[in-house]
Amino acid sequence: MCGIFGYVGVRERDVALMTYRALRDLEYRGYDSWGIAAMTPDGVFVRKSVGKISDTNEQELKGISGKLAIGHSRWATHGGVSEVNSHPHFNRDRTIAVIHNGIVENHNELRAFLYAKLGLVHADLFVSETDTEVIPHLIDYFLRLGNTFESAFVETGKMLEGRYAVVVMKRGEPYLLAMRDGSPLVVGEGEDQYYLASDVPAFLDHTRTVCYPGDREYLKVSAEGIMMRSLDDGAKVEPKWSEILWDKASATKEGHPHYMLKEILEQPLSLDKAIRQEDGKLLEAAALMKEAEHCFFIGCGTAAKMAKLGELYAASVGGRQTTAFVGSEFKPYEQFLDRKSVLFAVSQSGETADVLEALSVGKKRGAKIVSLLNVVGSSMDRMSDKKLFINTGPEIAVASTKAATAQAAVLILLAHALAKDGKAKLAEGKHLLRRAVKEIKAWLTPDLSYEIRRVAERLKDTNDLYIIGRGLNAPIAHEAAIKIQEVSYIHAEGFPGGELKHGPIALIQKGTPVIALIANDETRRDMESNTMELKSRGAYIIGIAPTHSPLFDEWIPVPDLGIASTIANLIPIQLLAYHLAVLRGNDPDKPRNLAKSVTVK
Ligand code: AGP
Repeated sequence: MCGIFGYVGVRERDVALMTYRALRDLEYRGYDSWGIAAMTPDGVFVRKSVGKISDTNEQELKGISGKLAIGHSRWATHGGVSEVNSHPHFNRDRTIAVIHNGIVENHNELRAFLYAKLGLVHADLFVSETDTEVIPHLIDYFLRLGNTFESAFVETGKMLEGRYAVVVMKRGEPYLLAMRDGSPLVVGEGEDQYYLASDVPAFLDHTRTVCYPGDREYLKVSAEGIMMRSLDDGAKVEPKWSEILWDKASATKEGHPHYMLKEILEQPLSLDKAIRQEDGKLLEAAALMKEAEHCFFIGCGTAAKMAKLGELYAASVGGRQTTAFVGSEFKPYEQFLDRKSVLFAVSQSGETADVLEALSVGKKRGAKIVSLLNVVGSSMDRMSDKKLFINTGPEIAVASTKAATAQAAVLILLAHALAKDGKAKLAEGKHLLRRAVKEIKAWLTPDLSYEIRRVAERLKDTNDLYIIGRGLNAPIAHEAAIKIQEVSYIHAEGFPGGELKHGPIALIQKGTPVIALIANDETRRDMESNTMELKSRGAYIIGIAPTHSPLFDEWIPVPDLGIASTIANLIPIQLLAYHLAVLRGNDPDKPRNLAKSVTVK
């Protein structure tokens, strides 16, 4: 949630324009309002606005020269969407500008602290409703006590509770200060210039050399270099630089109208990368899980559905009992975590707050942490004992598509590694997935997309849409519902086929559209019976299946990939959700009320 960007360089540059472009690349993180502050020879330039930054013409930001700038793309948490609540936030004399991603959980206590110390009331101090605004006022307070800018910043940092990444600029100071705890922040090193951002695409046009500060570390960044220290004891931290290997093209639309479509269509490639896992890493992760007394998969949203799929594969292929949880519902089970437990996180971003919280508790209680991630250097990457990466390159659209199928593919491999003769089984799993990727490549053509658009045209005015699946396809039915809800805004619900008769079938009337996911496996007969029951009550059946059935009003053929059919079944649903969104006039890349990475609880 929220994208932050900072720049400091030795030469004057068109800094507001540069910041505008960086925020445009971070817009997927938050897009209800934005703001920029730049240090210019004539003073501080500030521009804030409600709405998406990409709706503003970049020419409006041209010609603002400076050596320092910060910018923020917001996803509102505290305070409504308004110019006054958008970042940067300032101290009273507007000499200190702050951008922040995360939540200052103790902002009420910090407000009370400031009122007591300054003898002021709310209206004398605060102009916005945000939690962030306590930060510039606290820095200002510590400066007035005689601290340097840096020590005032550190004192403020020590008082903040919650997850945050903060960047601060002060009039007259030729450097930026930044700190993070729990929220993402990456530094880019250019020639005589540095960049700070929530994510790499913000500065990939300028540099590929990056460093990821750790939790509770702060940075002083000037054109000459960066200094990193621990927020708690001031100990110096040596920055560890690495090179980004993917290029900007993987973070651009490459001629597609939306990132979501591009990311759906590139799945043959992303899946091919995902299954190229080192055997050793999979076997090591599996070994930890085998030794454990309890193993919990954990994720949120789409990743939670894939975590559930991980549980099913671990049981059916690996013969291991595990339990999958939604991150926000894990609390009652924290008491069972100990040195004999494994927490297996599934997360694209590696920054999802509810999962991070469970992992932190697990870590404190001695549990082993294993993660399946996309973003290298993320918080979960840093706190994991073993990590696996899906290697799909950046996923920009808010809806998870290529990350979800890649997670499913790696979880299939993991389940093979969990089996008795893990090594031999893994070879079998890899063979199965290589064949699956080949078949998906031949099938996932623009023609499939056109065909599904035709189905979407029939469904675009429906108010409700239901999806059923059994066995491995039950979590896929749930995931289908998320996909359709989040981009098309149609009421969609997924059910295990067997649950229909226990309630949901009452929702079916003549013409109610239902998607039936029918795999060629032991669930097929029962699924056909469920579909028949729906059909007899007037449902309009869209079958996603390798073989045709007279029960279907529409048939979307999918390749029969055995246990990997879950992956194939997800793809037409992603395309359907995409086309429904476009036909209904929605922006599929930036659905209302959502953000790519949910870094607050
Ligand atoms: C799915 O399309 C959503 N964008 C959302 O449910 C997402 O999967 C969830 O927020 C988890 O994100 P993560 O994978 O980055 O942890």
